[in-house]
Amino acid sequence: MALASGFVAAGSLSEIQPGQTRRVEVEGVPVLLVRVHDNIYAISDVCAHMGTSLSRGKVRGNVITCAAHGSQFDVRDGSVVKWVGKFPAPMRAAVALIKPPRPVPTYEVALEGDTIYVRKAAQRAVA
Ligand code: FES
Repeated sequence: MALASGFVAAGSLSEIQPGQTRRVEVEGVPVLLVRVHDNIYAISDVCAHMGTSLSRGKVRGNVITCAAHGSQFDVRDGSVVKWVGKFPAPMRAAVALIKPPRPVPTYEVALEGDTIYVRKAAQRAVA
């Protein structure tokens, strides 16, 4: 099966264990590949809060937690699960007023054998 245009080889499935991530660049854009069981997702490696690399975060199920301030994103669609979770609740509300929760862009992924392909042009984000 031929891939649709715009897909770029970005890594190998066998190099990423379930629950792990791999930071790659796709046409100059930092992208984080996240393996959840046998599925691979591609999200921006730039946290929507303050721009920290999400590659330092922890993955649990479909959720990645930013190591900086604890924002959590669903790797399947980039949606916000929790915003700045490391802050106490009253402070979280204040931070959300100054910098409202925003999703992280995600990218279309295709697998061909062991090779992971990412299509940057198909970027999408959930509001
Ligand atoms: S930079 Fe990621 S939560 Fe602040």
